[in-house]
Parts: sequence; structure tokens; C-alpha cells
Amino acid sequence: MHAYTDGMIVLGIESSCDETGVALVEAGPLGLPRLRAQALHTQIRMHQAYGGVVPELASRDHVRRVLPLLEHSLAEAGLERHDIDVVAFTRGPGLAGALLVGAGVACALAASLGKPTLGVHHLEGHLMSPFLSADPPEFPFIALLVSGGHTQLMRVDAVGQYELLGETIDDAAGEAFDKSAKLLGLGYPGGPALAALAEQGDPQAVALPRPLLHSGNLDFSFAGLKTAVLTAMRKLGPEPTDRQRADLAASTQAAIVEVLVKKSLRALQQTRLARLVVAGGVGANRELRAQLDAAAGRRGLRVHYPELALCTDNGAMIALAGAMRLQQDPARARADYRFDVRPRWPLSEA
Ligand code: KG4
Ligand code: ZN
Repeated sequence: MHAYTDGMIVLGIESSCDETGVALVEAGPLGLPRLRAQALHTQIRMHQAYGGVVPELASRDHVRRVLPLLEHSLAEAGLERHDIDVVAFTRGPGLAGALLVGAGVACALAASLGKPTLGVHHLEGHLMSPFLSADPPEFPFIALLVSGGHTQLMRVDAVGQYELLGETIDDAAGEAFDKSAKLLGLGYPGGPALAALAEQGDPQAVALPRPLLHSGNLDFSFAGLKTAVLTAMRKLGPEPTDRQRADLAASTQAAIVEVLVKKSLRALQQTRLARLVVAGGVGANRELRAQLDAAAGRRGLRVHYPELALCTDNGAMIALAGAMRLQQDPARARADYRFDVRPRWPLSEA
């Protein structure tokens, strides 16, 4: 097996959904891996016409984009293909066809170079992404993972050591943003659009439920919120004013953010940890960041975020998580070039 050497170059390929991401990190046996280059192509505009991600179109577009993005990253880093030591790719969870493109390209490339591969869990990528920020966290920490498909609170003691403390029993926080945005007549992806509209509105204008806020545990539920938004929309009649829509957007965002903030604080309190890491697409939400920062400031807690550009899907987080796994156990890399993907893959099994 490949020995872990100083200055090892790990290529990361992300293709689980609607972003093709490629990145190169450099890592020694110890210390934080360093991002050398990254390139990203988002398919948002392509899917916009359909109001959501069309899996077949996503796969085809990954095929078109991934090698040009690789060339771009190599050029930016001043590296050649043969400088790559390990090829990491997103093995799951995600869209099966889209994952297969990344996995297939990764294994073919690695085979042609005679280098090993490593399948990475997409959520582990999100979880580790704040380590590439200017203010990296230290283990152990509480992670609030809020993406389009997941809402989880975890205790993280090391890469690969996760204890699930609570999660959504129905919709994810990102889904709550996306579905509410759709009800408000906003396009895909709904989260950023709803957040932008919310800036013009009054967060207290519409009383919306805070599901499970006082449940005493660390679970979430967002399905009822969507129904409440639908009811509020119906009350506004067929032609709500811009002001009314902005008020409802602001109230929806306030409901989601309040639950996320309070449950995160409760997780910190219960575990007596003082460090929170926020990861996943919803972590880009400015109101969430502002409220977490304010609450943390008052309590002497630290909150770490990925750089804004690394909140949503990207190759850098996959290269990083791959490199951190290899630092822990170099034998994880495989050179048999057989691959499978795991469209549904619990993080606990990663
Ligand atoms: O992590 P991510 O890029 O993809 C998944 O792995 O799911 O997260 C995408 C989710 C979408 O639901 C999107 O609407 C949401 O993150 N999102 C936001 C913001 N930016 C992205 N939600 C609220 N505010 C934002 N600024
Ligand atoms: Zn993601």
C-alpha cells in the first residue's frame, strides 16, 4: 500500500448532486491538509427550467465537466496528473447516476496513473469543511449539519468518530427552505432565494410553529412548518403583495433559524462542549450565522463555519476528508479499481 509521505497530493471529486467539484489538497502525515486548487461547476442554471434537479441531466453534465475541471485545478496548482497520489471521490449519499460518474472517472484515472482510490462520505466532507477555513476548529466539537437532505446534531471526536445526538424526523432544514420558497413562488434553489426575500420582511409578522422546540430532546421536525406556510399563503389570497411575501419569507426563516440555534445550544450544554461547527448548504444562511454568533458570544462559546464558498457542495471538502482519513489510516486507500456507490449511506457506516 502507498506509504503516507510528506506533501501527498489528494485529488477530490464531488458529483453527488448538482455540482461538479474537483480539488487538490496537499497533506503531510500530521497537521491540517492545505487546499492547493479547486474548480467547481454548478448546474443550477440548467436545472432551473425544471424547478429542481433532474437526475439524468445531472449525470450527463458531470460527464462533460469533470475532466476539464481537473485540468483547470492541476494548472492552478502547477501540478501534473502524475503528481496525484490518491484519488478521492464521493461514494454517497446522493443521486446514483451522478455518483457513478464521479466514482467511474476517479477509478479510471487512478488506474491509468497506478494510484489508489478512496470513497468518501459526502456528509463527512461537509463536516470537515471548516478545517479549510481561516479559523479551523479543534476536536471535539458539536456539529450542526444542515444540508438539503440532512439535519443532524452530532458529537465529533475525530474524523470518523461521530455520535448522533439528534436529527430531523421528517424534512431537512434545507428542504424546509426549499419547499417554503416554492410555496412563495420562488425558484430553485429555494434557500438563498427565500433568504434574500426575507431581508425585506418582518420576521415577526406571521406566527409560525417552532416544531419540537420544547421537546426536551435534540430532534427536529420541519414538515409542519411547510404546512403552516401553505396555510399562511392561502390566507393571503391569489395575489399577495411583495410586502406580504417578504414578511412570510422572513417569518419562515426566523422559525427555522430559531429551532436550529436553540437545539445547537442545548447540544453544547448537554455535552459540556464549547465548540460548534456548522456545515452544509444552510450554513451559508446569514441570519443563522448572525444568531449563532450572537448567542455564542453571550455564552463564551466558539462557532466555526466553512468559508461561504465551501458551504454548498464542492470538491475541496471531499479531497480534505479523504486526506484526513488517510492521515488516520493510510491503508484505507484501495488499488483494485472496483467501485460501487452508496446512494443511501448512513454516516455511522462510513
Ligand atoms: O449541502 P448542500 O449544498 O447540498 C446537499 O448536500 O444537500 O445544501 C443545499 C441546501 C439547499 O436546500 C439550499 O436551499 C440550502 O442548502 N441553502 C440555503 C442557503 N444556501 C443554500 N438555505 C438557506 N439560506 C442560504 N443562504
Ligand atoms: Zn451536500
